[in-house]
Amino acid sequence: MTVGLGSGSTVFYAIKKLGELVSDGLNIKCVSTSSSTTQIARESGIEIISLDSINKIDLTIDGADEVDREFNGIKGGGGALLFEKIVALYSQKNIWIVDSEKLVNQLGKYPLPVEVIPFGHKRVFELMKESEFNPVIRKKGNEIYYTDSGNLIFDLHIEKIENPDDLNNKIKLINGVVETGLFLNIADIVIVGRESETETFQK
Ligand code: A5P
Repeated sequence: MTVGLGSGSTVFYAIKKLGELVSDGLNIKCVSTSSSTTQIARESGIEIISLDSINKIDLTIDGADEVDREFNGIKGGGGALLFEKIVALYSQKNIWIVDSEKLVNQLGKYPLPVEVIPFGHKRVFELMKESEFNPVIRKKGNEIYYTDSGNLIFDLHIEKIENPDDLNNKIKLINGVVETGLFLNIADIVIVGRESETETFQK
């Protein structure tokens, strides 16, 4: 199988477990969604291949920042949303693993990450302000945060996203926006971890 590996602190455990299975003989090749995932996977003995060397990904395992029961979610809290979305859309099946606080009735409380190219980003910022998206340029400490692709992240403090599809289309039409953290109807299976049990919902 070819397996897509998401990014973040939750999927970290899945990667570690896959590493153990690989050393027990599991035959998989993986595509990574971030430099940090590549590093963890390689350290765990997992072979990472380039997305462009394959035609399909069988399955991708990822986390999310928020998810609703319509299989819509917000991702990108860790800044890897662009590669995560490319890999997810290449995948025949997507599994998300989240803890129960991330399961919501309405998306938006978690600030929506949007990847923006640095060239002309001030204009994009102003347009988002005018649209009342309440953008905040992501920083790491006192420094501007740059993604693996050298882009910026604007975190949009919207609080309540009434229509995720409309919002996604509206943001993507802004010149200079690379990708949004709205992953709409992409997950096939969501595993919600609670204290002593898990809930799984699937399409
Ligand atoms: C990475 O950019 C994100 O999309 C993560 O998948 C998401 O933020 C979940 O991360 P945690 O598992 O660390 O909460």
